[in-house]
Amino acid sequence: MQKLKQYAQQNMIPIVRDKTAGILVELCKSAKPTRILEIGTAIGYSGIMMLKATDAKLVTIEKNEQRAEEARLNFKKYGVENRVELKVGDALDEIVLLERSGQKFDFIFFFFPKGQYFRYYPLLKNLLTGGGTIFADNVDLLGLLDSPQRVTHKNRAMVNNMKKFIQMVKDDSDITYEFYHIDDGFCVCKKK
Ligand SMILES: C[S@@+](CC[C@H](N)C(=O)[O-])C[C@H]1O[C@@H](n2cnc3c(N)ncnc32)[C@H](O)[C@@H]1O
Repeated sequence: MQKLKQYAQQNMIPIVRDKTAGILVELCKSAKPTRILEIGTAIGYSGIMMLKATDAKLVTIEKNEQRAEEARLNFKKYGVENRVELKVGDALDEIVLLERSGQKFDFIFFFFPKGQYFRYYPLLKNLLTGGGTIFADNVDLLGLLDSPQRVTHKNRAMVNNMKKFIQMVKDDSDITYEFYHIDDGFCVCKKK
């Protein structure tokens, strides 16, 4: 996994940060999910971690074809390819298809364009079983949420959308939740 991490860093591919990854793995171990959904495969780093921590099957979605191909090779290299279904396409389209085919997941990890969390959250929640977990990474936006003076015209929409997502979670009586201000911040929601 160290090599995979180095490769990602050298090629500027964002992957889950170390402390977050540690907690993600611990959560996976304790939740013992059977079906995990991941949005944003990249090169398979976090997917492999979650698979190694569980006996689960993983459905993972990546829109970048080159990254998806690299992920496919990595899943094979790490011996988990039989437990992975890699979908190459836009997450929104794939989520709609998963819902239509009645698929359910007991653990969902998402880490993709940060301005879109509020759009995906209700859809992902529909795919989650009772007692299932949603893990949303990077919710602190590298401190932007707490530094209004650093919010520029360019990132204002993303910041407002992330605030919308956070409020959505806080107002959602179907779940319990916890925000962790570790690395770039993440949120763990559990469906009641
Ligand atoms: C931060 S990376 C994922 C890192 C990965 N989860 C890990 O920790 O190893 C986000 C990935 O999401 C993909 N992505 C972004 N928008 C997407 C979309 N709308 N649908 C599917 N994949 C998307 C990007 O191409 C990128 O590879």
